[in-house]
Amino acid sequence: MKIAIGSDHGGFQLKETVKEYLLDKNYEVEDFGAYDTESVDYPEIGEKVALSVKDGESEKGIIVCGTGLGISISANKIPGIRAALVSDTFSAKMSRAHNDANILALGGRVLGTDLALEIVDTWLKTDFEGGRHERRVNKIKDLESKYNK
Ligand code: RB5
Repeated sequence: MKIAIGSDHGGFQLKETVKEYLLDKNYEVEDFGAYDTESVDYPEIGEKVALSVKDGESEKGIIVCGTGLGISISANKIPGIRAALVSDTFSAKMSRAHNDANILALGGRVLGTDLALEIVDTWLKTDFEGGRHERRVNKIKDLESKYNK
């Protein structure tokens, strides 16, 4: 499975840790930056990761900024993207099982390394349940078409 990853400077350290973890687990990873701690605006990176997922070049994405807020709000502007900002393993599981989130957003200044990696692991191994949740996700897609004209 190919995973697109990206961060701003506030998420750089955690993004690097997540990247190492994913490569260690034999995932294919495309890193859209940041490549160092120099200040960069999170919408630019959020867009790159989101487009990679939207275009099917990557199956899923993981994005990190200081809080995870700015980069997830940015990624969610791209049609087809359901970016979930997650700080606990239960929400990580539910964001996949019920919301079919295709991008995981993390706060590099919020989470400790061990919790962040547990969230990543849970998120990647949880499948979408479909059924009644599919109807609801389809309604999210309807909202997207309704207001993106
Ligand atoms: C950058 O200082 C910080 O604002 C950013 O990483 C993020 O937390 C925004 O939501």
